[in-house]
Amino acid sequence: MSSFSLRPLTSTIGAEIDGLDIASPLSSEDRQEVLDALVAHHVLFFREQDITPEQQVAFAKQFGPISFPPFAPKYGTNPEYIVLDQENPKGEGADAWHSDNSFMSEPPMGSVLRAVLIPEVGGDTCFASTVAAYDALSPSIQRLVDGLKAIHDITKPLLKGIAAGHTTVNLEDVQAQWPPVAHPIVRTHPVTGKKSLYVNRNSTTHIEGLSERENEMLLPFLMDHIRSPEFQCRFKWDTNSVAFWDNRSAQHFAVSDYHSRRIMNRVTIAGEKVL
Ligand code: OGA
Ligand code: MN
Repeated sequence: MSSFSLRPLTSTIGAEIDGLDIASPLSSEDRQEVLDALVAHHVLFFREQDITPEQQVAFAKQFGPISFPPFAPKYGTNPEYIVLDQENPKGEGADAWHSDNSFMSEPPMGSVLRAVLIPEVGGDTCFASTVAAYDALSPSIQRLVDGLKAIHDITKPLLKGIAAGHTTVNLEDVQAQWPPVAHPIVRTHPVTGKKSLYVNRNSTTHIEGLSERENEMLLPFLMDHIRSPEFQCRFKWDTNSVAFWDNRSAQHFAVSDYHSRRIMNRVTIAGEKVL
């Protein structure tokens, strides 16, 4: 019997969890039920979690080791979590559909994001199920994309981070540390076995083995397909709201419709090779 309740936000993605205090270690039953809910709903939301960064890190560690940021952000003192501190978010990177750090050869399994300070209005985050997006493709298009691989490159998100002043790292140094990687366009979830689309606007540059013209046609189509509201939910944050997303089966988009300070703490959980 669950010690918490779960309310799905849509039929494809998102669930709000009530009655679970994530500040202290979960029982093994609760941990397993949270994990089951995460892979079933792709993103979980918890409200009124007045926790410290250390408690947020400890919560995340119950689901896997921490994934350290691929380049040093300007803010934050403990590399186990990063602070997103924004005031004019347009074009800063998170306001494009993406899966976190897909330019890594082993991209994160998930992230735990907590709202520290949020604008009075605006600054919602949208999430999309890339499983629902794949399922909605016609069998002919599924056959076309199954087996293809795409290249993911850190350059674009890194340039955005540098331009926004969120990091002071050297572009060439970080590029050398994180060379472009190829991942399947259609990935198979390690827990559910479900297929999902794995291309995103931030980091995917091109599909391997296709001509430039073919890329110009197919890649934007797949990225746009993910944007259908049928695959999405939208979360309105309160201070101390927490989102925990499965980075393997969801993408997210931070709505850049505010001009006052918004501060979020993020802890990222390491993942594995994309299959
Ligand atoms: C992230 C991210 C979205 C937001 O933390 O990876 O994209 O709404 N954040 O801040
Ligand atoms: Mn992100």
